[in-house]
Amino acid sequence: MLYRKYRPSTFEDIIGQDIIVTVLRNFLKNEEKLPQGYVFAGQRGTGKTTTARIFAKTLNCQNAKNDPCDTCMTCDLINKNQFLDLVEIDAASHRGIDEIRNLKEHIGFRPLQGKYKVFILDEAHMLTAPAWNALLKTLEELPKTVIFILATTEPEKIPNTILSRVQRFDFRRIGLVDMVEKLKKICAQEDIPYEEGALYMIAEESQGAMRDAETMLEKMSLSIKEKKGVTETLVEEFLGKLSAHKILEFLQSIIAQDHEAALNFIQSVYQEGFDLIHFNKEALRIVRELLILKVHPQWKNQLSRQYPVDVLEKIEEVAKTGSAGLFRRLLKIFLHCEMQLRREPPILTLPLEIAVVEGIAIVKLSKKGGK
Ligand SMILES: Nc1ncnc2c1ncn2[C@@H]1O[C@H](COP(=O)(O)OP(=O)(O)OP(=O)(O)O)[C@@H](O)[C@H]1O
Ligand SMILES: [Mg+2]
Ligand SMILES: [Zn+2]
Repeated sequence: MLYRKYRPSTFEDIIGQDIIVTVLRNFLKNEEKLPQGYVFAGQRGTGKTTTARIFAKTLNCQNAKNDPCDTCMTCDLINKNQFLDLVEIDAASHRGIDEIRNLKEHIGFRPLQGKYKVFILDEAHMLTAPAWNALLKTLEELPKTVIFILATTEPEKIPNTILSRVQRFDFRRIGLVDMVEKLKKICAQEDIPYEEGALYMIAEESQGAMRDAETMLEKMSLSIKEKKGVTETLVEEFLGKLSAHKILEFLQSIIAQDHEAALNFIQSVYQEGFDLIHFNKEALRIVRELLILKVHPQWKNQLSRQYPVDVLEKIEEVAKTGSAGLFRRLLKIFLHCEMQLRREPPILTLPLEIAVVEGIAIVKLSKKGGK
């Protein structure tokens, strides 16, 4: 599994969680005052378990300064999941009070191999109310050599009494650019050819969850055709979504008043089985970018965090071919089209076809009016 192979093994490798890494490193500098309870909250695949392990590793590493050395015996054991003082518990299957009581006994023993015993309680929000009570007492009387990390995707389910006794860290969704960077590195190491736009599509689809992106990349890389690599076309087939390039082509045909090209485009989108509502949404999204770029040129900075360079260039190119007024009207047309598509029209492609005809009519008008 790619996501296992590329799981960060030092703080250095963790992406998109800079503040958390900085604060944890600062804690490590002053062990006298080291907090013993932590909550790592945030959506799935953002690095909670990974960071907890790296924190445990740094605490126990024989050579650690800022980062675990990753070579000493302790680091090695942790990497192999054989370190006895790092205990990972899945709260989803150990939800009850008995389990927490067992844990309590376990906590009483001194660390066997390292300096600290670290407990990572994954999916902590699954604990039952009595289990929380037992845990609360445990947290109140932790021996100095014990660290507790609760990881959860649903921090709102953690009782306040617990939250007020721990350091809470909120993991952020991983940004597109960071995600694409990591995907590129994986592709380079795994010898997977790729188109940058394809990696952006994967990253976009994963909505901030790095693991999802890595899993998707893996699946796609296994079905590469004719050694072309992970291309936009391949990702399109996989996700049932069109690339920004294609959407821009479609918009260009409307602006060029080319009925034939635009209507054929819709037919092929339909026949190839792409979701029409989604297609319309993507068109909407790009017209929105065009409009904002027109009235507020600095928007380009924002766009550069969402699209690869070649798409950004094309967006700018298309923006030059119309006025803000035109894009505003097109936006309204696609908005209206979305509502119509959701009403399951008698001919499924009809709303989009009307949008094309109206769109081209508006282009004609705006060209005549000179704006
Ligand atoms: N911040 C990150 N930097 C680099 N890789 C990451 C990051 N977050 C997640 N990953 C990748 O995703 C995989 C899963 O990460 P991890 O298990 O830490 O997520 P999690 O937040 O604990 O998710 P879950 O809530 O599903 O348990 C890692 O093996 C790694 O490949
Ligand atoms: Mg996890
Ligand atoms: Zn080490």
